[in-house]
Amino acid sequence: MKILVVFYSRTGSTKKIGEEIAKGVAADTEEIVDLKKRSGIIGWFASGKDAMQRKTTNINIKKNPQDYDCVIIGTPIWASNMAPAVRSYLKSHKLDNKKVNFFCTARGSGIEKTFSEMKKLVPNSDIGKNLVVLSREIKSGEYKEKVKSFLKINNQ
Ligand SMILES: Cc1cc2nc3c(=O)[nH]c(=O)nc-3n(C[C@H](O)[C@H](O)[C@H](O)COP(=O)(O)O)c2cc1C
Repeated sequence: MKILVVFYSRTGSTKKIGEEIAKGVAADTEEIVDLKKRSGIIGWFASGKDAMQRKTTNINIKKNPQDYDCVIIGTPIWASNMAPAVRSYLKSHKLDNKKVNFFCTARGSGIEKTFSEMKKLVPNSDIGKNLVVLSREIKSGEYKEKVKSFLKINNQ
């Protein structure tokens, strides 16, 4: 099975988890590039506001998800929503009949709401188990075990 791990990451946490997942299942990776500047305090505010308003954004990607059987998609949680770059990705790619898994990194709020919205954007996909990694689990190293069991469940 050909697997693509897709993620957007502003400060590296979601990227770290995406790369760990990809390593575990020998998948290709795609880091979504958000063309809107999101660094600094102004970028931080705009990011929260855009996410809350469920905005999309202009993105750059390189790979075609249609070339894969399974697509694993990761987002940071912003203002209890997916990042706009991930919303743009899901809105612009039909992942019909593909196996799709979601993962997120977050401090700890707005997670289930975000997954359920992501699911609505790919209504014809076969959604598997999701993975949540909290900021404190990244710091402590606990994320490694979490990623391992996520991969085990999804390989059964
Ligand atoms: C603008 C903004 C809003 C955020 N809102 C939430 C939130 O609602 N709930 C939460 O648990 N974490 C929230 N966070 C924390 C991020 O989800 C968390 O730090 C994440 O791991 C960052 O991922 P990244 O390093 O891949 O960008 C927010 C972070 C930012 C920048």
